[in-house]
Amino acid sequence: MNSHVATARNSAATNDPFKEIQRLGGLLDESEKQHMQARAQLALLAEACDTLRRERDWALQALADLKNETFLELARNAEQKDGESPMHTTRIGLYSGMIAAELGWSPDMCQLLESAAQLHDIGKIGIHASILGKEGPLTTEEWRVMREHPRIGASIIGDSEEPLLKLAAEIAMSHHEHFDGAGYPQGLVGREIPMAGRIVALADFFDALTTHRSYRPARPAEEVVEMVKIRSGEQFDPLIVDAFLRISDQIITLRQSVLEQERYDGAQDWDGNWWMLL
Ligand SMILES: [Fe+2]
Ligand SMILES: [Fe+2]
Repeated sequence: MNSHVATARNSAATNDPFKEIQRLGGLLDESEKQHMQARAQLALLAEACDTLRRERDWALQALADLKNETFLELARNAEQKDGESPMHTTRIGLYSGMIAAELGWSPDMCQLLESAAQLHDIGKIGIHASILGKEGPLTTEEWRVMREHPRIGASIIGDSEEPLLKLAAEIAMSHHEHFDGAGYPQGLVGREIPMAGRIVALADFFDALTTHRSYRPARPAEEVVEMVKIRSGEQFDPLIVDAFLRISDQIITLRQSVLEQERYDGAQDWDGNWWMLL
């Protein structure tokens, strides 16, 4: 390249290759012009590729969010079909995240567990309402069907590599396993049970027993904490029981505030429809 071209280029160079070609116009020979035009086209192409990549990432994220939201809605419906309040899934997520934090999990993993735990009973969507809503005790056959919900849940969530769904499928499959091997569906023992499943099992037990159901009243939270203690090493992993006991006061306080919020939300709906009473 001529030295006068180099001087002109350095003096007031712009970042836009097309403007550069115009600016240096007469100072360039034909091959330099073609070279610069080719580079300019390449720069345009690279920019278009970047935009496309960003749009693709955004669309994939939106699709993943939508999928997770659909699963969560399905899980809430499944719990409601079983007589649980819509907040049951939220509470299980919160308790599980708190126990995991006490066990030293990273904040990101706790957050992931908090979301994934909410899908634990999604498989109940595949259990007939006559079994889920039955007032009296279940027959042996009905129990056999009921005990299919972990497998159904794991198969609904599927074999995803996405971290949230992968963890959710693991939890759906393992949240009824017992530390001593007496649980279902696989009868896994001790550390064979994925840790997330062991944590959610305890959170689910605590929430189920402290919540009023049509066939039994809620037990006082302090009494359920004692029941958890007694089941350490049998139904629950002692390590997780210890972590739960260390923060049981915080969990009881949180439970209270979630229940109050639930009551408040209920009252809000009620107030909004006051005219229907007239
Ligand atoms: Fe379950
Ligand atoms: Fe549940």
